[in-house]
Amino acid sequence: MSVSGVSSEERSDFTRLENRRLRQRSIALFLSLAKPFSWRIALSGVLVVLGTLTSVAGPALLAIGIDQALPALTNDRDWIPTLMVVGGYIASGIFGGVFISTYIRTSTRVSQGILFNLRLRVFRHTQRLSMSFHESYTSGKIIARQTSDLDTLREFLDSGVEKLISGVLYMAFTAIALIALDPPSMLPVVISFVPVFFFAWWFSTASKKAFRISRVYSARLIVQFVETMTGIRAVKAFRREEHNERTYGEQVDNYRYANQKVISLFGIFDPGLKLVANIVMAIVLLLGAFRVLDGGMEVGVLLAAVLYVRRIYDPVNDLAMFYNSLQSAGSALEKISGVLEEEPTVAEPSTPTSLEHPRGSLDLTAVSFSYVAGRPVLPALDLHIPAGQTVALVGTTGAGKSTLAKLIARFYDPDAGSVKLDGIDLRDLSNRDLRGSVVMVTQEAYLFSGSVIENLSLGKPDATLDEIEAAARAVGAHEFIMSLPDGYETDVNKRGGRLSSGQRQLLSFARAFLADPTVLILDEATASLDIPSERLVQRGLQTLLADRTAIIIAHRLSTVSIADRVVVMEHGRVIEDGTPADLIAGTGTFSTLHKAWRESLA
Ligand SMILES: Nc1ncnc2c1ncn2[C@@H]1O[C@H](COP(=O)(O)OP(=O)(O)OP(=O)(O)O)[C@@H](O)[C@H]1O
Ligand SMILES: [Mg+2]
Repeated sequence: MSVSGVSSEERSDFTRLENRRLRQRSIALFLSLAKPFSWRIALSGVLVVLGTLTSVAGPALLAIGIDQALPALTNDRDWIPTLMVVGGYIASGIFGGVFISTYIRTSTRVSQGILFNLRLRVFRHTQRLSMSFHESYTSGKIIARQTSDLDTLREFLDSGVEKLISGVLYMAFTAIALIALDPPSMLPVVISFVPVFFFAWWFSTASKKAFRISRVYSARLIVQFVETMTGIRAVKAFRREEHNERTYGEQVDNYRYANQKVISLFGIFDPGLKLVANIVMAIVLLLGAFRVLDGGMEVGVLLAAVLYVRRIYDPVNDLAMFYNSLQSAGSALEKISGVLEEEPTVAEPSTPTSLEHPRGSLDLTAVSFSYVAGRPVLPALDLHIPAGQTVALVGTTGAGKSTLAKLIARFYDPDAGSVKLDGIDLRDLSNRDLRGSVVMVTQEAYLFSGSVIENLSLGKPDATLDEIEAAARAVGAHEFIMSLPDGYETDVNKRGGRLSSGQRQLLSFARAFLADPTVLILDEATASLDIPSERLVQRGLQTLLADRTAIIIAHRLSTVSIADRVVVMEHGRVIEDGTPADLIAGTGTFSTLHKAWRESLA
């Protein structure tokens, strides 16, 4: 009995159940993916059987050719058997080719179709999932799902399954042909399969372990690479290059060593199999030679038997690898189905309440919220914001201002209490109504690759060029946009690399301007602007905010001058609430803050 009162038996029961659940989940996903292709899968099955059958015919035809057709030709000048064998060879070549090529086309359609659907499904689903998922599931993991896991599946579908089926069929048909042709020659093969089985078992287990280690190292390599490159500024600022080089070098070395091990296993297994095949071939040849001498066996049959024996070991390699590829595909499918199983925590209601003419009044009633259970960020917050009011939300770092903003934008739902827009709970609004009414601009100001126009029209997809320019002028972004190499057509590159953070903020302002929401939330949205730019934005803001509800979060108190009301937060609670004039005149936190701020300006 362990301390927690859960015995190790119970725990292993639990693990077993959990494993079974994971396996069932993966299988269910796979079946749902395969379902639309069922007739193509059946057709592939028929084609691969026919194709393999024709490819096994060769040595048998050779035996007939040597033992029957040749004597008929030399003794009786009878060409017919020879021509029939030749015809059979050509026909098996043609039919085999047609079967196999049709099979490849059909099965590729299936595997690529499955992957296509899965890729889209994973993307759509990950994008649909709520912020809470994306904050806990790192982007590295999401990248791995879309890349290496899907690649593993692709390998499995493209070659793993095919090799298993054609390999098994090939061995079975070859064995049947050999038994039909000359049963005694099968005996050494059967005996040899005992050591071959154990040899393949050893290889399968050892390579599984080696592959797993290699995959772990490869994943570590990718993680370190991505982290270094996305954090390249910090790397350079803190001169971490040498340290990174050293640790990366170690990882590369581990990876190299792991790969060497994998390849050296093949270096033992492949020649080992060849050796077995050659020994058995030699035995069959030797025994056959005695029987030919006795007249108990014909030369053609011996030749065909030797050829069959040589071929029967060919698929063993692939079969030993199949288990491996099945295992990795299984674990990839497990991880992918795990993502697909996640449900958006902030889900769209099935029957939304429509919001015809939003006015923008906000009501937060007894809202409590925690990111981590047991550590409430907002204990119980009440706040009423009438339509059209501009509220400055201030407070110390970590007070919960951004959290409050995210609840109003419904990136999260409160644990208890409600957030209402015009009296309707946000949870009852359609995404369309919600996103159309509430827009949040943050300090991050993310820009997508594409032109300035494309980035701005995100706010209003059908905006005309004039509207876009008017929005840019309103926030004072027009001038710097015109100074860019291609003006509004300039590609802002990945992560807006070519723009300064202040310029990016101006663009995301213009974007919000275009979107024209009823409720606008600015979270530190002017933090990167210089004083003149901020003034410019503020002048624009005054007109922008005139007919809508706005919540402005800012550390620079200059913003407060355009607000109707100031709300001061501390540890997730509202500690002061009033007009700027009242609060400044009072003796509370805000008046102290404001005095300090005025002095800092002087
Ligand atoms: N995604 C998250 N997961 C867990 N805790 C979080 C998360 N985001 C914020 N917190 C915690 O919630 C508290 C409030 O954070 P919040 O971002 O709302 O503060 P803030 O008032 O906006 O601060 P700042 O002025 O620095 O922006 C902090 O203690 C923070 O550590
Ligand atoms: Mg914040």
